[in-house]
Amino acid sequence: MSHKQVVMAGTDTRDLTKLAEYEAVGGYASLAKARTLGPEQITNELMASELRGRGGAFFPTGRKWSFVPSPEQNPNPHYLVINADESEPGSFKDNEIISRVPHRFIEGCLITAHAVLAKHVYVYIRGEYLGPYEILVAALEELKQRPDLRGDVTIVVHRGAGAYICGEETALLDSLEGKRGQPRTKPPFPAIAGLYASPTVVNNVETIATVPAIVEMGGAEYAKLGVPNSRGTRLISVSGHVERGGNYEVEPGISLKDLIFAPELGGGVPGGRAVKAVIPGGSSTVILTGDELDVGYDFDSLLAKNTAMGSAGVIVLDERVCMVQLGIRVSEFYEHESCGKCTPCREGTRWMTQILRKLEAGEATERELDLLLSVCDRINGKCLCPLGDTAAMAIASYVAKFRDEFVAHLDGGACPCGDHSPLDGVLAPVAQHIHDHASELVPA
Ligand SMILES: Cc1cc2nc3c(=O)[nH]c(=O)nc-3n(C[C@H](O)[C@H](O)[C@H](O)COP(=O)(O)O)c2cc1C
Ligand code: SF4
Repeated sequence: MSHKQVVMAGTDTRDLTKLAEYEAVGGYASLAKARTLGPEQITNELMASELRGRGGAFFPTGRKWSFVPSPEQNPNPHYLVINADESEPGSFKDNEIISRVPHRFIEGCLITAHAVLAKHVYVYIRGEYLGPYEILVAALEELKQRPDLRGDVTIVVHRGAGAYICGEETALLDSLEGKRGQPRTKPPFPAIAGLYASPTVVNNVETIATVPAIVEMGGAEYAKLGVPNSRGTRLISVSGHVERGGNYEVEPGISLKDLIFAPELGGGVPGGRAVKAVIPGGSSTVILTGDELDVGYDFDSLLAKNTAMGSAGVIVLDERVCMVQLGIRVSEFYEHESCGKCTPCREGTRWMTQILRKLEAGEATERELDLLLSVCDRINGKCLCPLGDTAAMAIASYVAKFRDEFVAHLDGGACPCGDHSPLDGVLAPVAQHIHDHASELVPA
């Protein structure tokens, strides 16, 4: 099976981290073309491309840009902010884009800045991404010598301090302004009142790195790739119990089974073990069982299964995994990362973890299993931002789809998997998200 490359095109044969190499494959030609077009024309091409945001919310990119008010409507400066915070467990594609095609990403920033009339671009990059950060800074150093490319746009790279919630666009803006990173109430949306209360477009790294190709080939041509509602290509992070973990650029619509088993993609499960479950779009998404793999990897097909592509992190879990232990690992992450602004999420995620720990120890009652679902229900739909909702939906889906296994923990008075439940390489334990700052222990 061959796969069309758009974002990662050229990386197999050249080192595209170098400006000269990137220009040798036609790099920055789209920027030159874009500068001959008016901002509105570029936005129209984006609309025609049907590109939707790659950060998780899947909002149509051209439409988002079209919301930015004209200077006559709002004379404040316009800002472009790139979300490179990528902290969703299971997702590591933006890391690879910045590391391998930094100039394509920068070209996308400059084209987008032209389209939304921004002279200031901020790249908010996950603090732990030191490698990509250094590659990006080196690429920007090269750009400094090229005022013909840079024009009058400044690009500032800001390193985050390690909070998952700062990937949520309004928390990111607060963090960028020097405040504590917590989500704002919406509306107003950032396009109207974002950074410093000025019109701001926030886009994901992959979204922006796709823009040069759309300008080059035209929106209509790009929209021929993929399937309805999921156009173009997506860079998918495949991890967990697969032979060939990594990022793969494919057209949406490919089957989830192929993503996991095709020899040039996931390459199957080590040891020929069966797939027990798959988390399709990063830890925030509803789980699929091993019987549900014959599904297209695209927005509509996954929605029909009540789940989502999210940030395109496919996490494969083989037959040895204990779903309660998985629940603890995921719940601990959200408990730790909850910003605490709203009660259902702050208290509910901790409560979920506590019940799951009791279940794993074989000390819970059937009433507490029902209580776990009730807590999920009381979080879902009652939060300021999607962190709480998605945490609750994910955990509730483990119980709904693997209830027998949860009940076996009650009946047996212990974890039925014993020590045969390897989560190694599946999702990092929460301890790896905790930084070495002294902090007070809060009593449970
Ligand atoms: C808790 C949370 C974390 C998020 N983390 C990220 C992230 O790391 N990167 C990202 O691009 N979007 C993230 N998002 C989505 C952003 O809020 C926003 O939708 C996105 O950056 C918009 O860019 P796009 O339209 O190009 O996808 C997150 C959302 C939530 C609720
Ligand atoms: S849902 Fe959670 S992370 Fe989001 S604002 Fe509320 S407390 Fe903060």
